[in-house]
Amino acid sequence: MTERTFSIIKPDATRRNLTGKINAVIEEAGLRIVAQRRVKLTDAQAKKFYEVHAERPFYGELVEQMTAEPVVVQVLEGDNAVLKYREVMGATNPDNADEGTIRKLFALSIGENSVHGSDSLENAGIEIAQFFKDEEIVG
Ligand code: CMP
Repeated sequence: MTERTFSIIKPDATRRNLTGKINAVIEEAGLRIVAQRRVKLTDAQAKKFYEVHAERPFYGELVEQMTAEPVVVQVLEGDNAVLKYREVMGATNPDNADEGTIRKLFALSIGENSVHGSDSLENAGIEIAQFFKDEEIVG
């Protein structure tokens, strides 16, 4: 089934000029980038985006890291895009990520793990709507 998922290339990656290399891995996996914008998240945007983690001990640091440098927000489209992108990203903690995954290749730590991807189709819809209007997504 063709799905859309939401992707963020995080500050640790934009800082190291890795946007193109990360998107090459995404495209090689057969996912299409159908919307894209480089943006510096505000404190309010990052807090809202990661609201589900508000009670976690790493929340403050996460918001700080996500607002430190620009990010690239993207919509990816393809067959089973949600699950496929999670496979392409690899485990949240790069120490546990499989060879060839984005996080194994590029992540620095669990906090600075280079990319975010939606964890379900429902959340993909919510996250996409936070950053893109329908007419900005061109498949
Ligand atoms: P992400 O997929 O963007 O979702 C939440 C983020 O919190 C996660 O990637 C990590 O970058 C960050 N994080 C920091 N510490 C932890 C932790 N102990 N467990 C899970 N996520 C963490």
